[in-house]
Amino acid sequence: MLLNKDKFPVHIGFIMDGNGRWAQKKGLPRTFGHKEGAQAFRRILKYCYEIGIKNVTFYAFSTENWSRPKAEVDAIMTLFNDYLDEAGDFSDKKDARLIFLGDKAPFSPDMRQKMIELEKVSENNDAMNVAIAVNYGGRDDIVYAVRSVVKMIREGFVKDEDINEELITSLLYTKNMPDVDLVIRPSGEKRLSNFMIWQSAYAEFYYTDVLWPDFTPNELDKALNDFAQRNRRFGGV
Ligand code: IPE
Ligand code: IPE
Ligand code: MG
Repeated sequence: MLLNKDKFPVHIGFIMDGNGRWAQKKGLPRTFGHKEGAQAFRRILKYCYEIGIKNVTFYAFSTENWSRPKAEVDAIMTLFNDYLDEAGDFSDKKDARLIFLGDKAPFSPDMRQKMIELEKVSENNDAMNVAIAVNYGGRDDIVYAVRSVVKMIREGFVKDEDINEELITSLLYTKNMPDVDLVIRPSGEKRLSNFMIWQSAYAEFYYTDVLWPDFTPNELDKALNDFAQRNRRFGGV
């Protein structure tokens, strides 16, 4: 499909939804859907790199997803851990910076270490930013920023009057990335589910009934062409 690169979003957020239903439709356990969803993630990340999207975020696991059955959570963590073992290869080859959005505290020490290490070694890569939101919640993101503000005030780094949108933005998990301007949600659901509530203030939304494991580069092209037609006004006329 022909793409207009001048009208590309600077930051796409993917809400990778529909894995469970994909598997259930085939009479398979939900975990098969997560496995296939992880493949879709690899495919779409690679395609974003190829066409030149500079910032991408993949919403992989929310602060609310811990409420799922333990076996399902464990299966998702295993898939995530597998990816952590290969992510360094991608970031080296593609000069991509890896960022993990969300509180790392609940993960195993081993996984936490891998995330921290990947972030550190890819820190100066600048072909693209690849964020993976795990144990991420938009509200948690803001709580974390508020805590940082309080700490800075206590330590005398900022005054009350220094608290503004710029300061809050600089303290979010996404501090190294521009605001998301296109949020793509497959699977037919039309909600944010606690994804980047601050950063998506002026984002365009794109919904499709396709389930995430079936999401292809062609689906992304459709979303990009749709985005290119949008008239973004930011409150102006
Ligand atoms: C998205 O797929 C993956 C995660 C939330 C971890 P779901 O598991 O939510 O799939 P559905 O929505 O039940 O189909
Ligand atoms: C949102 O999907 C979270 C991720 C895709 C990681 P959910 O499936 O958890 O969202 P709800 O429960 O349908 O709102
Ligand atoms: Mg879901």
